[in-house]
Amino acid sequence: MSPILQSLQKTLLAGLVLLIAIVLIAGAVSGSPLQMTPVWWSFVFRWLHVTCGVMWIGLLWYFNFVQIPSMPKIPDEQKPAISKVIAPTALFWFRWAALATVVTGLVVAGLQGYLHAALRLQVGFAAIGIGMWLALIMAFNVWFIIWPNQKKALGIVQVEPAEKAAAARLAMLTSRTNTMLSIPMLFMMSAQSHGGLGL
Ligand code: HEM
Repeated sequence: MSPILQSLQKTLLAGLVLLIAIVLIAGAVSGSPLQMTPVWWSFVFRWLHVTCGVMWIGLLWYFNFVQIPSMPKIPDEQKPAISKVIAPTALFWFRWAALATVVTGLVVAGLQGYLHAALRLQVGFAAIGIGMWLALIMAFNVWFIIWPNQKKALGIVQVEPAEKAAAARLAMLTSRTNTMLSIPMLFMMSAQSHGGLGL
């Protein structure tokens, strides 16, 4: 087991193999093996969507719950470990997970046949519509405010010290805004199919 767990790629592959085994065994035991119908493919996108969303919001909360509050407690000479190594890697997965969440979310809405109705906040689709708009605003913030300003704050793009400080502050406040938006967004997102909102 340990040779698998020492490699992230092999660990992820093992997770996928485990999933396939569970699905096959569950199908055999219940006597109703899985059928790859259009409904099932729509479900696969929902699974991918939630998985990407966990990566995105998990990293957003890591920044806000762990990294930002810890920075003032870290001695200056050790700060580059965060700013030069950990933050750029976290930001890589953060912004691409945000994009993947948007794409898979829009695919789910399209496959369910209510993309336009949801975006127009039509009655019956308002919960997911509100969730989608909140998440779209958050994704816009990631790609067009947080990431460009983080590049200046982390020294990936060279700027004057005053501009660097202003960029770091704007990135932090936008990240906080997204943390705030993530609370109602997640409620609306899961409310649509599970009776969370009487719309
Ligand atoms: C612009 C971005 C997003 C779009 C377009 C989108 C779209 C959707 C759609 C269409 C559904 C299916 C709703 C239903 O009929 O039950 C859904 C469900 C869901 N989404 Fe999103 N979403 C987005 C962002 C996110 C984010 C950031 C998360 C964070 C984890 C997330 C988590 C979920 C969850 C947990 C469900 C519920 C699945 C279920 O209860 O079956 N979504 N989303």
